[in-house]
Amino acid sequence: MSFALAARTQRMNPSAIRDILKVTERPGILSMAGGLPAPEAFPVEAIRRASDHVLGTQGAAALQYASSEGLPGLREWVAGHLSRPGWRIDPDHVLITTGSQQGLDLLGKVLLDEGAHVLVEQPTYLGALQAFTPYGPVMQPWAADAEGPLADELVGDPGAAVAYLIPNFQNPGGQCLGEARRQALAQALPRGHTLLIEDDPYGALWYDAPPPAPVASGAPQQVVYLGSFSKVLSPGLRVGYMVMPGGEGDAARALRSKLLQAKQACDLHTPGLNQRLILELLQGGFDLEAHLHQVRERYRLQRDVMAHALATHLPRDCRWHVPPGGMFFWVEAPEHVDTLARLPRAVKAGVAYVPGAPFFSSNDTVKRNALRLSFVTLAPAQIEEAVARLGPCLA
Ligand SMILES: Cc1ncc(COP(=O)(O)O)c(C=O)c1O
Repeated sequence: MSFALAARTQRMNPSAIRDILKVTERPGILSMAGGLPAPEAFPVEAIRRASDHVLGTQGAAALQYASSEGLPGLREWVAGHLSRPGWRIDPDHVLITTGSQQGLDLLGKVLLDEGAHVLVEQPTYLGALQAFTPYGPVMQPWAADAEGPLADELVGDPGAAVAYLIPNFQNPGGQCLGEARRQALAQALPRGHTLLIEDDPYGALWYDAPPPAPVASGAPQQVVYLGSFSKVLSPGLRVGYMVMPGGEGDAARALRSKLLQAKQACDLHTPGLNQRLILELLQGGFDLEAHLHQVRERYRLQRDVMAHALATHLPRDCRWHVPPGGMFFWVEAPEHVDTLARLPRAVKAGVAYVPGAPFFSSNDTVKRNALRLSFVTLAPAQIEEAVARLGPCLA
């Protein structure tokens, strides 16, 4: 038997993280590799009660096919939750997605022709590179200064089709984009032809101060905003959302309708039962703010434990910033340390991390001496032990 794969599969690569996660399932390994939320932070009881309620009151309707746009009540909740002065979101412009990861794939499908330019931060989220690459774009490192990606890059001629930004507690870098740079980006967008994808799964996970307003609120016609319930409730429910650009211009209308068609072709709709569970949690007796407060307390403590452990156990010439939110420390070891090559040694020592190289889209910008450490999965005592094991591997 013989058969051929589509040419685009040549551009598909395995996720470095998923491969590493397999290794970390071995007994005895303390893994700081995956960005897995702490299981203790999942509101299991509340979800069980919501499930009883939804099935008890809505029965078969909750198990039926549903609309591709998403549950109307959930779209309204998202619109209401995000709306603020200058950014009044029409619930009709909210598309419920199967995780924000699906949003990235739909956007790639609808926006990226082969050869289209995409501006990406260096480093950036691996899953976005994986989602966009099969469509054949040219990934262009987004030039940045100490404040973050440069606004002028959005105005070049002919300009990038798309710019991809994680403004809050970036994965993997951990940094949060300041208010002034957000405003500069929002002001630059209407001067060019680039659509900004603002990917924000971590905004609620702040430990020092809430992040500034999204860039979308300053340029609602030229930003697609992605959000997710993965980090605030549960990633296993696979429910995220996309706020599509507002306005009644031809481009915005066409984008909204093509995204919906792409969603229909992809999975018809996001699981209706899961959408209903989430809506029941949001509108029923569950106190989301109190839940988030607890999650933040837990993760802040874990972050602080990791910050202390890094200062104690890593070689002196390693560099990092304490992230003001999110899930990750980004560590730069001395230049001669290739963290991919060192990984087997770390695994032997009983610890795992994600090497930095796969988070870069370009060989010119890659930092082979960097690594990403998640502080949310392990308990504090394990974090201390994991970093103690890691230290000698980076010397
Ligand atoms: C920056 C970023 N975007 C999107 C996702 C995908 O999240 P989900 O599909 O679970 O909403 C992740 C997950 O880790 C992420 O870090």
